[in-house]
Amino acid sequence: MKKRIFEPNTTLFPVPVVLITTGGDTPNVITLNRIASCSAEPPRISISVRPLRHSHALIKNSGEFVVNIPTPAQQLVSDYVGVVSGRAEDKFATTNLHLAPAAKVKTPLLADCPVNIECIVEQAVNLDSHTMFIGLVQAVHVDESLLDGRGEVDFARAHGLIYQAGVVRERPTYNFRVAELRQAVR
Ligand SMILES: Cc1cc2nc3c(=O)[nH]c(=O)nc-3n(C[C@H](O)[C@H](O)[C@H](O)COP(=O)(O)O)c2cc1C
Repeated sequence: MKKRIFEPNTTLFPVPVVLITTGGDTPNVITLNRIASCSAEPPRISISVRPLRHSHALIKNSGEFVVNIPTPAQQLVSDYVGVVSGRAEDKFATTNLHLAPAAKVKTPLLADCPVNIECIVEQAVNLDSHTMFIGLVQAVHVDESLLDGRGEVDFARAHGLIYQAGVVRERPTYNFRVAELRQAVR
């Protein structure tokens, strides 16, 4: 292999794409790929959010978030809620996403996603460009169609997951045509 050395960046693959609901009684939804499982006992998940995002203040103020895992069929809507801000519009009114009550937190989950993980924020770590919110998992919802014969979650049954693929850029230049996406996600 003939390798080149790049400037420091976070070139990882695969990178999962998730939809985060947050905000308690005034919910919003944001697309994220900076997400990780960061402990097992007790289970914790970290998400990293830029301070300028509308969702950043909602996570800070509500102290909670729900990780909703979309299927490949939800790729377009995942793009859409990742380029439009909840400051500008109510993304639940402009998309076909549906909210349902969570079990342990006030923020609703996305009924359309087969897996939903409710979290309470335990720590917020300032990481310059992003704040890493570490969430303690409170409840995990899984669509029964994803369970295998032993009751384990088999993501293959969701026909895969969405991964950000293609050219890895540290600063992606999204070139989504928002107006076209808006039509597609209604
Ligand atoms: C595939 C994808 C991954 C993204 N990952 C992140 C992320 O990890 N952290 C972040 O702050 N923004 C991320 N974004 C950008 C936000 O989703 C986007 O700025 C969104 O419009 C913010 O919504 P809000 O202002 O309603 O919170 C991502 C967008 C896309 C399309």
